[in-house]
Amino acid sequence: MDARDRIATNVTLSSRPVPRVLAIDPDAPSASVIAEAALVLARGGLVAFPTETVYGLGARGLVAEDVAKIFAAKERPTGHPLILHVDGEEMAKTLASSWSARASRLARAFWPGPLTMVVPRAEIVPDAVTGGLDSVAVRVPNHAVARALVRAVGTPLAAPSANAHMHVSPTTAEHVVRSLGDRVDLVLDGGPCTHGIESTVVDVRSDPPRVLRAGAATLEMLRAIEPSVAYETTANTIAGEAARASPGMASKHYAPRATVALVPTASFEEALVAALAVGRPVAAIAWSEEGGTAIQAHARTLVFDAVLPSDPAGYARGLFAAFYDADDAGAVTLVVEAVPAEERWWAVADRLRRATSAG
Ligand code: TXA
Ligand code: MG
Repeated sequence: MDARDRIATNVTLSSRPVPRVLAIDPDAPSASVIAEAALVLARGGLVAFPTETVYGLGARGLVAEDVAKIFAAKERPTGHPLILHVDGEEMAKTLASSWSARASRLARAFWPGPLTMVVPRAEIVPDAVTGGLDSVAVRVPNHAVARALVRAVGTPLAAPSANAHMHVSPTTAEHVVRSLGDRVDLVLDGGPCTHGIESTVVDVRSDPPRVLRAGAATLEMLRAIEPSVAYETTANTIAGEAARASPGMASKHYAPRATVALVPTASFEEALVAALAVGRPVAAIAWSEEGGTAIQAHARTLVFDAVLPSDPAGYARGLFAAFYDADDAGAVTLVVEAVPAEERWWAVADRLRRATSAG
C-alpha cells in the first residue's frame, strides 16, 4: 500500500478524492522530497507547493501542454494569465524581451518576496501562460521549498493559487486538498503560509508603474522604492482599468461558499442578530474589541467564529483559513466586520470586497 492509499482509506476530507501529500520542512526542504516533486513536474504533472504568500499549483511554465493542465485542474478560463516563478533575477530576465532599470531596482528591493512584476514577454513564454498578452508576470518566492523546486526542475514554474477557480486561495496543504482533491498529482505540505494573502502585482512597463493587484508587499514598501507608483483605490479596482489590464481580476474571486455580509463595526452585532433570526447557519469574523464582544455574546448560536488580529498582516494571515473553516462548518451566511478604511489595509479590504461581490 503506498502513501496515497493510506491517506485515502483513513481520511475523508471532502467529497473529492485525496491526492498524494508529502510533508516537507519549510526552512530546510528534504532533497529527496524535492527530487520526487521535480520528477512529477518533469513528467508533466502538477505539484502544489507552499510559498510565503499562498500555496501554488505548479507546472513547467514553458511547456504549453503542462500549463494547460493547470487550467483544467482549476477549471480556470483560459485567458487568465499565470505568474511564472523563478529562482532569481537572472532566470526572470530570460522570460522578458527587455529588462528595465526599474525592474532591476524592484527586484533588488523585493526579491525573494511577494512582489510580482509584469514585464514585456520573451518569445519562449507560451501563450498558455500569458493568455496571449504581450507581457508576462514573474516573481521569486521567498520560500525555500518553492525555490528548491524551481532549481530542481531547472525552468520557471507556472503557479496560480492552488484552489479551484473563484474559490479562496489556500494557505495550508489541507486547503489545497479540500479545494482540488486529486486534480493535483502531489501536494508538498510545508505548513501554513507566512503572509496568507497573494503577492502584489505591479506592471513595471508603464511610467509610473501601476499596481494591478494589492497584496502582501505593502504600498508603503513600494513607495519607498517607486514613490510615484499608481494604485486605483479598492472601490475602483474591480470595474476599473486595472481589471482590464489584468484579466482574471474582473470576476468574483476569493469567495467562500457562504454569502458574505460585510458590515461596519457599529452595526456588526445588529447584523449578527438579523442573520441569526433567519434560522440558517451563521458564521462571523471580527477584528476589533467591539466586534469580539459581539461575537462572544452570540458564540453559542454561531456555527463558526473568528476574531482575527487587529493589524493588517496578522489579519491577512488568518483570513482565508477563516473562510475555509466557515464553509466547513456549513455556514450559509458569513457576517464579516469591515476593516478600517486605511491604506495599510488595502490588500485585506480588496479581498473582502471581492468575497462579497456578486459578479
Ligand atoms: O502570491 C501569489 O501571487 C500566488 C503564489 C502561488 O505565487 N499566485 C497567484 O496566482 O496568486 P494567481 O494566478 O491566482 O494570480 C495571478 C495574478 C492574477 O491577478 C493575474 O491577472 C495577474 O496575476 N497576472 C498574471 N499575468 C499577468 C500579465 N501578463 N499581465 C497582467 N496581470 C497578470
Ligand atoms: Mg488565484
